[in-house]
Amino acid sequence: MITNVLVTGGNGQLAQTIKEHYFKNNNNIHFTFVTKADLDLTKYNQVENLFASNKFNYCINCAAYTNVEQAEDFKELAFHVNAEAVKYLAIICNKNNTKLIHVSTDYVFNGEKKEPYLEIDTTNPINNYGASKLKGEVYIAENIQDYFIIRTSWLYSKFGKNFYKTIKEKIENNADLKITVAETGTPTSCVDLAQAIYFLITSKNINYGLYHFSNNGQATWYDFTIEIAKLIGNYNIDKIQPVPFFKTKAKRPKFSVLDKNKISTILPQEIPHWKDALKVLINTK
Ligand SMILES: NC(=O)c1ccc[n+]([C@@H]2O[C@H](COP(=O)([O-])OP(=O)(O)OC[C@H]3O[C@@H](n4cnc5c(N)ncnc54)[C@H](OP(=O)(O)O)[C@@H]3O)[C@@H](O)[C@H]2O)c1
Repeated sequence: MITNVLVTGGNGQLAQTIKEHYFKNNNNIHFTFVTKADLDLTKYNQVENLFASNKFNYCINCAAYTNVEQAEDFKELAFHVNAEAVKYLAIICNKNNTKLIHVSTDYVFNGEKKEPYLEIDTTNPINNYGASKLKGEVYIAENIQDYFIIRTSWLYSKFGKNFYKTIKEKIENNADLKITVAETGTPTSCVDLAQAIYFLITSKNINYGLYHFSNNGQATWYDFTIEIAKLIGNYNIDKIQPVPFFKTKAKRPKFSVLDKNKISTILPQEIPHWKDALKVLINTK
């Protein structure tokens, strides 16, 4: 029997990574990728129509309002996409017996903890993006049983706009950099997150619920930058200056490392360290 998988937010970095690595439809699995232009999650009749004319076994929701800074000014829009539209998607998935795999964020936490966050830890977002994503999580839990919510952190890939790509370009242009040490988290390669999601589907896992997934280890943005520079090479890392803070509109959690013990019991192999994952991305042509 073919497993039909819908992937929303098709132009985003996670969806594009899934596409690059797993869009080799075979007899067992068939992916349908839809971009915002094909399927705007806030247009409920579009969602309804797509599900009415297709049978999806899974929906991987990679669509989100991800601009953390702009979410401070466009709070309503962030909640519309990350919460209300997610609620509707959960209702539609439930009605159609579609399992929902939803991606959430470390920004649901306030960052005051000193050790990795567990799935059962109290949430308390300190910016609108985190609050909107948390509301989306709550709506999912209220409206569907067959769901995986995967909280992740500091995603990067060769696609779209992300910290890794911005820094890589600056290093290639030999720029001087001032990078904050105020936040500690874990950079996560979209490749590894995509692999974990793919495994949940192909292994037909039914241990539904909330999970944390990031690469292993921890870093500040400064540490991450140094590592990118070393791997790219041909750049004097003394040009990277650590700074105690970087002024932003949205507050960020000081510490948002995620505990991965729960998901590790499911995954077939150890989660790569963030430095190894970065090396793989930089060395893959
Ligand atoms: N990036 C991170 O560091 C990070 C960290 C933790 C968790 N996450 C979560 O991981 C998931 C994937 O993130 P990502 O980095 O791949 O995000 P991304 O690159 O920003 O992709 C998100 C995609 O969603 C689309 N989208 C926005 N509004 C939509 C709507 N109303 N209907 C349908 N599509 C819509 C966007 O399209 P447009 O660009 O055209 O608006 C974009 O293509 C998200 O749930 C995000 O919250 C990300």
